[in-house]
Amino acid sequence: MATIPTDRAPDSTLAFLRAGYRFVGQRCDRYGTDIFQTRLLLEPTICLRGRAATELFYDADRFMREGAMPARGQRTLTGRGGVQGLDGDAHHDRKAMFMSLMSPAAVRRLGQLFADEWQARLPAWELSGTVTLHTEVASMLTRAVCAWAGVPLSGGELDRRTADLQAMIDSAAAIGPRHWRGRLGRYRSEYWGADLVEQVRHGKLSPPEGTALRVIAEHRDGEGRRLPRRIAAVELLNVLRPTIAVARFVVFAALALHDHPAWRQRVRDDDAEAGQFVQEVRRYYPFFPVAAARVRRDFDWQGYHFPQGRRVLLDLYGTNHHPEVWPEPERFRPERFAGWPGDPFTLVPQGGGDHVAGHRCAGEWITIELMKRAVTLLTEVIRYDVPPQDLAVDLSRMPALPASGFVVTAVRRTG
Ligand code: HEM
Repeated sequence: MATIPTDRAPDSTLAFLRAGYRFVGQRCDRYGTDIFQTRLLLEPTICLRGRAATELFYDADRFMREGAMPARGQRTLTGRGGVQGLDGDAHHDRKAMFMSLMSPAAVRRLGQLFADEWQARLPAWELSGTVTLHTEVASMLTRAVCAWAGVPLSGGELDRRTADLQAMIDSAAAIGPRHWRGRLGRYRSEYWGADLVEQVRHGKLSPPEGTALRVIAEHRDGEGRRLPRRIAAVELLNVLRPTIAVARFVVFAALALHDHPAWRQRVRDDDAEAGQFVQEVRRYYPFFPVAAARVRRDFDWQGYHFPQGRRVLLDLYGTNHHPEVWPEPERFRPERFAGWPGDPFTLVPQGGGDHVAGHRCAGEWITIELMKRAVTLLTEVIRYDVPPQDLAVDLSRMPALPASGFVVTAVRRTG
């Protein structure tokens, strides 16, 4: 049996936080493998990247999610008791609840609500002179997803809810004040969500049939039990929070249009090319660095031994940038997706494998729909100037974003 190449440092947590998205890839390059072992948060951890590793990682007979997410991430990003940490029948049941919200018509409806919000903001943008796209899109997405999910939101609540949901996204890999803002955001949001669930259960609030709030509040597991209200709140936030996170991909799409202006025309002229552009934005730009699991029971793979209980991280960013999978991975080249067969183990910004059976992101179709709408709005509905600003994307900052949040000026409608 071969020995997994091992980092010498007694613990690499700080190195991970310093290197960010490149942590796993740099070490794989150093060892000349797609696998190495290190210690993170004082625990031995196997890190993997690449297509074969992704296929392995999404084999539910070999890996489980219980206990995989570090407590810091649960207290901020995901919450406790949600779908991300479930396995087997409990996961299938909960995941089916999420997937029931994702019909093509429902996905289009959310896209339309977002586009309507965008159109409604245009007069204010035209007047204000300067618009920070990330801030604006996040708040438009909060309104759109709350309307879509059957969640009432008063005008006065918008800023606080958006800030709390964003703080959760921003805090998962943070230490210090950013981490604490995330915890506070989660605490307040879970309280809000649990109250909404109670109101539905007591008939004080009646969200339309099929909306996320209604479905989650009324969901019963295989044994006919309702979700405890705190867990129902965690699952409601598992719809609201990541939808607002799509604002980051919208900003990256705007950055790509700015850096590759020829694509403004191409996405306008051709739907297929617009689709390729969105895929390349999801592949190229950084979002979640890794996904975590634990070895269910001992097994061997490619001559390496995986002991039961060992934590394993799959490098999502590194797989999206793997040179054997993606020729010239550091070039932004949407054409690479022309005729792409849709391999579930190579383009993994939102996880890999199967949406229904595995842990792949439940909101991938929503993400693509919202990004396509945004690209249309940015190229067909408005024109704008991009003034000098700091557009650098710091790969040691997780989650990443252009430093300025993408400021535009002189917004005007086309035609
Ligand atoms: C910015 C866009 C998004 C990104 C980058 C993203 C990324 C991810 C990633 C990396 C995972 C974990 C995969 C794994 O553990 O193997 C995940 C899971 C999940 N995502 Fe997303 N996501 C996004 C948008 C959404 C949206 C819009 C929704 C819902 C409306 C959503 C709902 C979920 C849920 C419920 C899970 C847990 C799935 C499971 O454990 O079975 N996500 N996402």
